[in-house]
Amino acid sequence: MAKIHSWAAQAAKQPLARYEFNPGPLGPEEVEIAVEHCGVCHSDLSVLNNDWGISRYPFVPGHEVIGRVVAAGEVAKGVKVGDHVGVGWTSGSCMHCQLCLGGKQHLCRTSQATIIGHAGGFADRVRAHWAWTIPLPAALDASTAGPLLCGGITVFNPFHLYSISPTARVGILGIGGLGHMALKFANAWGCDVTAFTSSESKRDEAMKLGAHHVVSSRDVKSIRSIAGSLDLLLITANAALDWDALIGTLAPNGRLHVVGVVPEAIPVQAFALIGSELDISGSPTGSPVDIARMLEFAARHKIAPQVERYPMSKVNDALEHLEAGKARYRIILDADFK
Ligand SMILES: NC(=O)c1ccc[n+]([C@@H]2O[C@H](COP(=O)([O-])OP(=O)(O)OC[C@H]3O[C@@H](n4cnc5c(N)ncnc54)[C@H](OP(=O)(O)O)[C@@H]3O)[C@@H](O)[C@H]2O)c1
Ligand SMILES: [Zn+2]
Ligand SMILES: [Zn+2]
Repeated sequence: MAKIHSWAAQAAKQPLARYEFNPGPLGPEEVEIAVEHCGVCHSDLSVLNNDWGISRYPFVPGHEVIGRVVAAGEVAKGVKVGDHVGVGWTSGSCMHCQLCLGGKQHLCRTSQATIIGHAGGFADRVRAHWAWTIPLPAALDASTAGPLLCGGITVFNPFHLYSISPTARVGILGIGGLGHMALKFANAWGCDVTAFTSSESKRDEAMKLGAHHVVSSRDVKSIRSIAGSLDLLLITANAALDWDALIGTLAPNGRLHVVGVVPEAIPVQAFALIGSELDISGSPTGSPVDIARMLEFAARHKIAPQVERYPMSKVNDALEHLEAGKARYRIILDADFK
């Protein structure tokens, strides 16, 4: 097998530099993909900086991968050489535990994250188990589909998981990579959608992305003005927030659902939960079937991330742009290895 060319950090908080490695023989259940495009998720930055204490170096980021299958192991199923596919946060799971056999492969206790102890998609080629190599529907534009593979499934899955009704009132807090896709999905699902943003400059765009109302996530008065109204409030921000006011926006039987990696513990008063039968929950991405279902939904509703493009060779500029909070709304890297 030829060497893989990639962009990697050798230690936490270091800029990415060109890095070549020998991937070894392709496993019988593995698929190798020639990377065309890769989205940049905030989790790539958090792992680069070892914010969660789970990073391994050399670190090759990238878990919103789109490319073509160039090799398939001898028992790989479902995909063949030449297929256009995507790979997200997870690139493998054991396929024999109760969770895997029960269709919840994303919860497998021994699943392989694409960027933890495994080389991700900021590379010319990436590998994944065949089951986690998701064929792209022909109707999706492959050049913008990458962010659906992590950010997209993360915000789509709660709607499915909790059977959110189209008559529900839904809040989306944090209009970044995940949040802007959440506005599109929630709108297409049929819900009444409120965007919560800390950026005044995103107000008008949030409405164009699918919000019916916009609230400032920094202004407690603005948050309290919609007290008791939301059936679901999805937190995509990775920041400390006014939890008391936010939980106060929930209607009876409402749910606060966290997908952003909030760095602090979330304080909750028992009485706030008891009196209105509230739920507080969180979720990771989704199973391969969930991802395929989300891609079909996105294709049917013409949902595509709004992206800014960088050649992969400008990856450090792209990471800086994301870290500065300037991305509108997801960055995609186009592979340009020579
Ligand atoms: N659960 C999962 O499986 C999963 C999957 C993917 C990502 N994640 C996590 O989800 C989070 C978001 O990822 P992303 O890629 O969407 O990041 P992103 O593009 O940087 O967006 C985050 C958004 O949060 C809001 N925000 C940031 N700082 C804030 C502050 N101090 N106060 C209030 N709002 C603030 C901003 O939106 P406004 O400008 O609108 O305020 C920002 O655009 C990250 O923690 C990431 O690791 C989790
Ligand atoms: Zn991600
Ligand atoms: Zn398993």
